[in-house]
Amino acid sequence: MLTQHLYRYLQFTTQLEQLVVNKTMLDIAYGRIGVDLPRGMVFDAHKIYCDEAYHALFSMDMYRQVIDATGVAPRIGSEPHFFRRLRRLLEDVDPSMRLLVELLFVFCSETLISGTLDSGRDQQVDPAVHEMVKDHAKDEGKHHAYFASFLFHLWPQIHAKYQESAAALIPDLIMTFLEPDRESLVGELCGYDLSRNEAEQVVAETFTGDVVSEYARATARHTLRYCREAGVLDHPAAVERFHELGLIEEDQCPASMQSAPQKDRTWKGSGRF
Ligand SMILES: [Fe+2]
Ligand SMILES: [Fe+2]
Repeated sequence: MLTQHLYRYLQFTTQLEQLVVNKTMLDIAYGRIGVDLPRGMVFDAHKIYCDEAYHALFSMDMYRQVIDATGVAPRIGSEPHFFRRLRRLLEDVDPSMRLLVELLFVFCSETLISGTLDSGRDQQVDPAVHEMVKDHAKDEGKHHAYFASFLFHLWPQIHAKYQESAAALIPDLIMTFLEPDRESLVGELCGYDLSRNEAEQVVAETFTGDVVSEYARATARHTLRYCREAGVLDHPAAVERFHELGLIEEDQCPASMQSAPQKDRTWKGSGRF
């Protein structure tokens, strides 16, 4: 089961980096997003593109090596959950919003991923996996700073008629990234001689609403803070959706969600890399 979980994680990383994040990095690098950005930020998009390609490469390399070393065949499906869910979201929005939704998803994923890349000091984690995750986390710390700044450049440039619906989509984009891949987990459990009903019950009892929301709130705290500071939460529809998805606790005061004085998040340039 641990090996299957590693496969799932590596597949997630490879597809996220190459098929989603790097498409956006090219859009930024080639000035195709219709947003004015500092020159340094456009240049740094090329660097992030290289970083992400390398993360995909070492993940795929690890995937291949683990199959060879263990003889365990992957049983995780061909596409991670986030990818199917993102495709559905993109199909459901007005075509004029698609590029913006892609940008916002990458803002979410790049400010969330650093919080998920912690293999800790657990001695049971294989040293090669531990080193790989550590290596990835180092780069993602820089990408996190880049995309926190990116939101502050992007948000004021979004046309008013799109801002409210874009704001209300952000919680769904966060959960698209953070939700467990239930379908893949059920499929895997069925391979251990559990019936489909039993497998679904195990997954439902393991990933209860409370467990998922608590993890999501903890992991998304920085993303939420940037949203608040940039003014995303000035839109009531967004606050409502954050509540509905459990990303803001029920008793949290709505006034505390209004845009707050922010520190200067202007991109300081490629010196950070
Ligand atoms: Fe990465
Ligand atoms: Fe990244």
